[in-house]
Amino acid sequence: MNTDQFLVKSELKHIDTASFTWQTPSNIALVKYWGKSNPQISKNASISFTLNNCHTITTIDFSKKQNSELVSEFNRTVDFDLFFEGKQKEEFKPKIAEFFRRVEEYCPYIFDYKMTINSENSFPHSSGIASSASGLSAIAMCLMSLEKEINADLSADFINKKASFLARLGSGSASRSIEGPLVVWGKHPAIEGSSDLFGIQFPYKVHSVFENYQDAILLVDEGEKQVSSTIGHNLMHNHPFAESRFLQANENLAKMAKILQEGDIKSFVNLVESEALTLHAMMLTSNPYFILMKPNTLEIINKIWEYRQENNSNICFTLDAGANVHVLFPESEKLNVLQFIDSQLSKFCQKNHYICDTVGFGAKKL
Ligand code: DP6
Repeated sequence: MNTDQFLVKSELKHIDTASFTWQTPSNIALVKYWGKSNPQISKNASISFTLNNCHTITTIDFSKKQNSELVSEFNRTVDFDLFFEGKQKEEFKPKIAEFFRRVEEYCPYIFDYKMTINSENSFPHSSGIASSASGLSAIAMCLMSLEKEINADLSADFINKKASFLARLGSGSASRSIEGPLVVWGKHPAIEGSSDLFGIQFPYKVHSVFENYQDAILLVDEGEKQVSSTIGHNLMHNHPFAESRFLQANENLAKMAKILQEGDIKSFVNLVESEALTLHAMMLTSNPYFILMKPNTLEIINKIWEYRQENNSNICFTLDAGANVHVLFPESEKLNVLQFIDSQLSKFCQKNHYICDTVGFGAKKL
């Protein structure tokens, strides 16, 4: 694998201070990433819709350290303060410090600056919506903005690739939060240009039925997950069904690529729901086993199936590693589906809370 392309090779310009703000989205996988090897390489390729309204906004202020503040290569540390929604957040620091450790080889300039990170999410922090994808992709974009200032030769394509590469080292799914509306991460023979190292935009023309696709996120359980994704991924080592699951996911990605191009929405519904339930089946059959769905998750799924049957609708659901339900539907059904959610599904959500989102186009510089 050619990780060398992401090393900084040229002489860097001296810049005393800089500040960049990026808004980066969350994403929802259609074919799921579940199981990885070191360093953050997925066992199978995955594809996701980039979201629009669920995002993180992050500003990083960089200020160059004085010579006296720089320490030798052997005991240097990355120097940063972290504020979340205006408040200093010591408890979030270890995850970000680990991210910087993983990317320092590719971004050696981070040792030269004192960084102040200010971050906020458009969705409630405790909503159970994973913030690592949007959070880490925003930091990655800010680092790439600095890299561009000190090394002006970088193309827009390289910046996106490297940002996705860096974000992946923080959280696998974050590699799919730089571009949109559909991103593939993981090398796959049916997807030209795909890579295990970074996400790429789905490279083929997508049928108009999938344009502006809708995602209503039903917040069934607004709380910390009992089992983190990282632990869940690890349980795929020695999992009795792991190898067949990885093969199946890659086959499903090939099917999905065809479905998206042909606009075969019935097959889309079938494949997306099967992927969601298979992800949770992997959790149910891990050792130790665990369940992230809640009774209301199942209530909602059953109601969606009833509604689809009765209305000849193309509504479907997907799940990530939690109890919340993502309800996916074409824009043409928006009015009816939102009425259905309001009258029949919102009662299964904590405080009747759900978020209406649509497919989006990726990171934005503010
Ligand atoms: C179920 O990307 O959160 O959402 O790489 O350990 O940070 P780490 O895991 P993470 O896993 C996401 C898993 C998933 C499926 C998906 O998004 O593909």
